[in-house]
Amino acid sequence: MCGIIGCVGRGDETLDTLVHGLSKLEYRGYDSAGVAMASGGVDLCKTAGKIEDLRDALSSVSLSGSVGIGHTRWSTHGPPTNANAHPHQDCTGDVAVVHNGIIENYQSLRDELVSAGHTFTSDTDTEVVPHLIEDELADGTAPEAAVRSAISRLEGSYAIAAVIAGTEAVFAARHDSPLVLGLTEGATFLASDVPAFRDFTDQVIYLDDGEFARLDADGWAVSTLDGSPVEKEVNVVEWDPEETGKSGYDHYMLKEIHEQPRALRQCLRGRVDEMAGTVDIEDLGDLSPTGVQFVACGTSYHAALYGAQLFREAGIPAQAFLASEYATAVPPIGDALVVGVTQSGETADTLSALREARKRGARTMAVTNVVGSTAARECDHAFYIRAGPEIGVAASKTFSTQLAALNLLMLGMTNEEGAREVIAALRELPGNVQRILDESNAEAVAETYRDADSYFFIGRGYQFPVALEGALKMKEITYKHAEGFASGELKHGPLALVTENTPVFAVVTGDGEQARKTVGNVKEVEARDAPVVAITDGQSDVGRYADHVLELPETHPRAAAVLANTHLQLLSYHTAALLGRNIDKPRNLAKSVTVE
Ligand code: F6R
Repeated sequence: MCGIIGCVGRGDETLDTLVHGLSKLEYRGYDSAGVAMASGGVDLCKTAGKIEDLRDALSSVSLSGSVGIGHTRWSTHGPPTNANAHPHQDCTGDVAVVHNGIIENYQSLRDELVSAGHTFTSDTDTEVVPHLIEDELADGTAPEAAVRSAISRLEGSYAIAAVIAGTEAVFAARHDSPLVLGLTEGATFLASDVPAFRDFTDQVIYLDDGEFARLDADGWAVSTLDGSPVEKEVNVVEWDPEETGKSGYDHYMLKEIHEQPRALRQCLRGRVDEMAGTVDIEDLGDLSPTGVQFVACGTSYHAALYGAQLFREAGIPAQAFLASEYATAVPPIGDALVVGVTQSGETADTLSALREARKRGARTMAVTNVVGSTAARECDHAFYIRAGPEIGVAASKTFSTQLAALNLLMLGMTNEEGAREVIAALRELPGNVQRILDESNAEAVAETYRDADSYFFIGRGYQFPVALEGALKMKEITYKHAEGFASGELKHGPLALVTENTPVFAVVTGDGEQARKTVGNVKEVEARDAPVVAITDGQSDVGRYADHVLELPETHPRAAAVLANTHLQLLSYHTAALLGRNIDKPRNLAKSVTVE
C-alpha cells in the first residue's frame, strides 16, 4: 500500500528527512516514489522504481525549501510510471499533492476539470486534487480553505497531504486511510505509519476519519474538514525504532490478518450497489463466457475452488485446476474464460497455465493483487483484489479478498438470483471479520493442541476450500502435519489416521443438508476419541460433539467461509508463535514463486 510522509521545520535537512521516511515505509510495498518541497515555488522529483532510484534522480536536481511531502506509490490507477508516481501537480505547478486510497468519483471530477481547460499528465485518480485546489486558489480562496474545499468534493478513501507555493505549511486530511502526526520541538511530521518518523520522535497524534490537519513551523492544528477545532490526545509510542514496519504487531502476518476488514472494504469499494442489488465491473468489458476455468496455486487455488463453485451455482460450468497440472488437463472449451487467481501475478506455474490457455485460443483474466504484474499485463482482463501489499509469506488478507473479489466477479458477470443477499452479506463482512478478530478464542485452542501429532480440517461446499486453506496455513507456518478434507472423504481412508492426538477442526455453517452430513462425520471422529473443534454459527448441533467451539455470526455461507478462515488463520498463527517458528518467513518458502 502507498506511503505518505510530510515534514515542516527541519530546515536544510527536510529533503533527507523525507527520503529517510520513505525508506522506512518501503515494507508496505511500492513501485514508485517521489518528493515535493515548497518555498516560493514547488520543486518536485519522482520516479518509477525504488527509493534508490529516487536518490539517483535527486542527485541531478536541486530541491529547496523547509516544507515537504513524499510518497511511495503502490499502483491502483495506471501502471507504475514516472508520470503516475506521486506527488501530482496542478497546471501552474504551484500545488503538489500525495494521496493514498481510491477516489471513486475521480472520473466525473476529471471530466469537469478537463472541460474547464485543465491538462492532466497522469492516469491517476489523485491528479484531480491539485487541479481542484488550483481552481479554488484562482478564485481567490486562501490556501488552507482551498485544500479543505477541494477535499470536500472527494468520494472514496483517502489520506492526502498537500503543499502550496508560498505557504510554509503541509495540509492533510484522512478518510478510511491512516495518517499520523509526529511532534517534536520545532518540527512536525506526518505519515501513513509511525516508522516514517520514529527516529525523530515518539510523540504522535492519530488522525481520525473526517479530520483535517495543518502542520507549520509553529506546530500543528487538527479540525474537522469544515473547520471546527478538534482536541487530540498526544500518544507516546511504546516501541523502539528498530521494530518499525509492523505497526506494533509481532509479525507481519498478524498485522495482515488484522488488516482484513480494511482490505475487504477496499475490495468492495465502488463496486457494489446494495440498493439495486447489483455489482459494477463494467470496466472489464462485456464478459459472458459459456464456461470458466480457474488456474492457480496454493492458497490462490483454494480461492479458485471456491470461485468455481460460485459460478456453478449461478449456472455457468466452471472448474478449478492446479496451474501446474493445467497443461495436461482438458483444453479450453468453446468460449470459456480462463481465470488465473494469483496474489502476486508473478507465479510461474500460473503464468504458464494462462499462456497455455491463450495458445489454445481462450480469453484470459488475472484476478490479482498487483497492478502491473505479469499476469495483469499478459491477460486480456485484470480484476484487482485491492488487498494492499502482503509481506508475510503466508497469504492471509489476500485469500479473504480473493473470495470477496470472486463473488463480485461472478455477480458482475451473471444475473444470479439472490444477488441482493450475497451483496448484503459482503457489505457486513468487514465488520464481522473485525468481530472475530476481537473475540476469537483461537489462541486458547492453539495452546490446548500445540503438541498434537497432526491436525485435520474438514468442511463441505464453500467450507471445503476453507478446510484445505486451514491445513495449508497450519503446515506452512508451524511445520506440523496438517490435512484438509472434504468432510465426506474422511471415512474413505483418512479416518485410519484419527486418534486422540489428532484434533479435527470441522467447519459447519447453517442447518441444511450439508451441515447435517458434516455433523455426522464429526460424530464418526468423536467416536474414535479425536478432539473436535467446531467452527460454527451454532445453527446445527455440532457444538454438542465438540470439545471447543470457534463461533461465527450467522451469515450467508459464502461470507461464512471468510469468517471461518479468519479463526483458522489465528489458530495457525498462535500455534506457530507458541512453537517459536519464523512466522513471516517460513523455512523453504518464498512469497512469490517464479519457477515452475
Ligand atoms: C500460501 C501461499 C502460497 C501462494 C501460492 C500462489 O500461504 O501464499 O500457497 O498462494 O504460491 O501465489 P500467488 O497467489 O502469488 O500466485
